[in-house]
Amino acid sequence: MKFDYTTAVRTGPGKFIAGKTGLPQPTDLPRFMDRPQPVLGPVLVLGTSQGTEDIANQILAWDGDVRRHGDELDKIGTIVVVLDEITNPTDTGPIIRELPAAFKKIKTGGRVLTISRSATEDDPAVNAARAGVEGFIRTLAKEARHGATANGIVVDDDVEITASSVIGALRFFLTAKSAFISGQTLRVSDDGGGIPALWEQHLAGKNVLVTGAARGIGAAIARTLSRDGAKVIVLDVPGSGSALSELANEIGAIPLQMDITSENAGQRIVDELTKRNIVLDGFVHNAGITRDKYFANMTDDRWDAVIDVNIAAQLRINDVLLTSDRLGDHFRLVSLASTSGVAGNAGQANYAYSKSAVMGMVAALGPILAERGGTANAVAPGFIETEMTGKIPPVQREIFRRSNSLKQGGLPLDVAETVSFLLSLPAGGYVGQTLRVCGQNLVGR
Ligand code: NAI
Repeated sequence: MKFDYTTAVRTGPGKFIAGKTGLPQPTDLPRFMDRPQPVLGPVLVLGTSQGTEDIANQILAWDGDVRRHGDELDKIGTIVVVLDEITNPTDTGPIIRELPAAFKKIKTGGRVLTISRSATEDDPAVNAARAGVEGFIRTLAKEARHGATANGIVVDDDVEITASSVIGALRFFLTAKSAFISGQTLRVSDDGGGIPALWEQHLAGKNVLVTGAARGIGAAIARTLSRDGAKVIVLDVPGSGSALSELANEIGAIPLQMDITSENAGQRIVDELTKRNIVLDGFVHNAGITRDKYFANMTDDRWDAVIDVNIAAQLRINDVLLTSDRLGDHFRLVSLASTSGVAGNAGQANYAYSKSAVMGMVAALGPILAERGGTANAVAPGFIETEMTGKIPPVQREIFRRSNSLKQGGLPLDVAETVSFLLSLPAGGYVGQTLRVCGQNLVGR
């Protein structure tokens, strides 16, 4: 039997030993099935701007127990700090005066969220005020306890605080769907495609193709998209046959056995969609492989295989898809990057190259798709509990698992929830970004 620290430390004896010896005791993070409500109350909303009022009203509309002062509260579920009108770093202090006391009272799995403007101003004082928010929220994420997270929404000047893209991000970060995201900022650079008719079935009527869907993160993505109302096409290599068809049966998906590196993969996908009369609303490039070696021992075949599956195949497929008539008006592309691509990782030069390349691909593709009402973004998972990470030697695995602010590995579901969010209508406002799902992994930013 495998030893698993995170599970062991949650048992009675495990808790006792960890308490006595000072070992980390990661909080059991509430997920959406444990906490389906949109906001954890009471909700303290701090700020002095009109934008603050707008955000408070939005949370009230979601039945949030909104308060403008926290001193009379014993516990606080959510803190939202709206800093959209600061023009000098000295403006921030007076707005956050109540925050330290409130931060101490945060509930298990609570949320801290800042909403501010993008640091793209020419005026040095204004830009300094805006840029400061990033260091601030990343620090709160490092100091947060009991599985609480802290993230920021950063809104471009030409986007209203009430835009669907801001409201969609607000909702995502406040729900338990973002359990394993902390210390991150999401830039909103467009209005988004509107508010979904039903938040919890926001992909109803949408067709989404997921590659590498037979197991691990891909299977979790397929299940989550199906839960959220999508019709899913699940693609994996021919060798994954029974796992793929079982999943397809389970969620009523269309299975597609194909190696994405085969030369005509893009055309075969388009032909399949045409044959079934399907127009795609989303495409998730999830299939990925590792062939780890220290770079001094790197072989051509290991390098080439990783580059081919993790990025070159995606580029080839995109080229065919984008010139086909199979993409819907609000088409959303999501690709799986990795924190290894953000910070590098010893033994993974090929993998890190491919995952940085994914971030570069979506940065260029996002604006191209935005011209036709679509978008492209990436998700960079940190340590996620899957077969891929199950192969890491136990001691190393335990170190990776705990090298983040939440002191545990994430679940495939955490990545899947983020992919579903980036496929949503409001996500049209996030263009070419990479959102990390890593519990604020200590590597990289
Ligand atoms: P996994 O190895 O468990 O599953 C990958 C799936 O992709 C498999 O079903 C496999 O058959 C399929 N696949 C591989 N090559 C293919 C090809 N040429 N054509 C079609 N399908 C192919 O991997 P896992 O852990 O679920 O990872 C999914 C994605 O998330 C990958 O892109 C991975 O790089 C990324 N990721 C995973 C992390 C983790 O902690 N597990 C961390 C960071 C990123």
